[in-house]
Amino acid sequence: MELDLLSKITALSKRRGILFPNSEIYGGIGGFYDYGPVGVEMKNNLKRMWWKYMVDDRDDVVGIDGTIITHPKVWEASGHITGFADEMAECKKCHQRFRPEDIEGKCPKCGGTDFSEAKKYNMLFKTEVGVIEGETTPAYLRGEACQTIYLDFKNVVDSSRVKVPFGIAQIGKAFRNEVTPNKFTFRTREFEQWDLQFFVHPSDMGKWFEYWKEQRMSFYKNLYRKSENLRFYQHPKEKLVFYAKDAFDIEYLAPWGWAENEGIHWRGDYDLTQHSKFSGKDLSYTDPITNERYIPHIVETSGGVDRTFLYLLFDAYEEETLANGELRTVLKINPEIAAYKAAVFPLVGNKEEITGKAREIYTMLKKDMKVMWDDRGNIGKRYRYQDEIGTPKCITIDYQTLEDGTVTVRDRDTMEQVRVKVEELKESLTK
Ligand code: GAP
Repeated sequence: MELDLLSKITALSKRRGILFPNSEIYGGIGGFYDYGPVGVEMKNNLKRMWWKYMVDDRDDVVGIDGTIITHPKVWEASGHITGFADEMAECKKCHQRFRPEDIEGKCPKCGGTDFSEAKKYNMLFKTEVGVIEGETTPAYLRGEACQTIYLDFKNVVDSSRVKVPFGIAQIGKAFRNEVTPNKFTFRTREFEQWDLQFFVHPSDMGKWFEYWKEQRMSFYKNLYRKSENLRFYQHPKEKLVFYAKDAFDIEYLAPWGWAENEGIHWRGDYDLTQHSKFSGKDLSYTDPITNERYIPHIVETSGGVDRTFLYLLFDAYEEETLANGELRTVLKINPEIAAYKAAVFPLVGNKEEITGKAREIYTMLKKDMKVMWDDRGNIGKRYRYQDEIGTPKCITIDYQTLEDGTVTVRDRDTMEQVRVKVEELKESLTK
């Protein structure tokens, strides 16, 4: 895969309303991106797919939606205030700071070769709670979404029907003041995570760790077209945090090489023990059958939604040369993720019978799926637009429709066109 795929994806995202740099009219702000009209639909579909797989289709996982700001002690207990640091070295010529692994002998910005010794920078974003000067409380934007799951653990156990083994799932924002946000939305300062914390009896950890590794890999294999671009990477024992017994990343082959997509972490009883200690509240669990009392151990699966979204764009992007020599750019994205399931075109925009019939079909389909109406430009331009945003099917209403009640359905991937009866259209699209 060539590196310029990243610049092609960045340009396509802007051109077609998938992702925009935040605050662009002010010159932008490093590490922040907005999802545009097409991107937000895709991202919502992606999150729904995760939620269905991890929560709706299971009996042993419930969801929460926690806040971004929490009690500041949470971050003392979690170790983020002392340990959540990125190591950076400063170029003595241009004074920009870089992670040591990004330097490769010279400054990526100015080419300088003289660097300060690497120092640690804390990545938590600080803020204040309260409005009266002198009476505000310092607080932090959450550096990882999972902490709110530990905070809600007791409330979930006390308020719902869950029994260990069970999981709490959440999709939510996390904030890291990354010193070098880079590679589009690969590393940003504001991003979303999809997390599962699965609580088990300590003696069952090995079994559940393996189970979740396989489940999560299977999720990504179904999501991407090219499953050969996925692999596990096991963290070497000497690099694990002191409480972790094992950790695997699910990696994706990005244009710049293998890169993390999601972490599967053996967290043991560390998190609940820490929060018990710092809050003074007992977070142990009593088995309703055996009456055994213990702190549940945790298998965590924690992935980046925005990062997955970016990898999906890499996975789907194709350039094809057509018979007439024209270049076609197409996003062969998983149809479940596509912003629109179909687009409806009246062949001509100035013929009342055709536009009226097209509107009728559009309104009928809209009841069941997300469809786009497009009557701008010629059909060729409309196909080009829909291909670039990954719309699986384009439906054209023409003169023949008025005669025999059929429409043309054009497939995004094969570009094949077939005539389908209007009554059979819905079924053919959802097949
Ligand atoms: N609770 C565990 C945790 O947060 P992590 O490996 O630091 O683990 C999990 O983060 C996932 O979040 C990563 O695999 C990655 O997909 C995503 N992620 C982490 N930092 C990110 C950033 N700066 N920008 C975008 N995604 C990020």
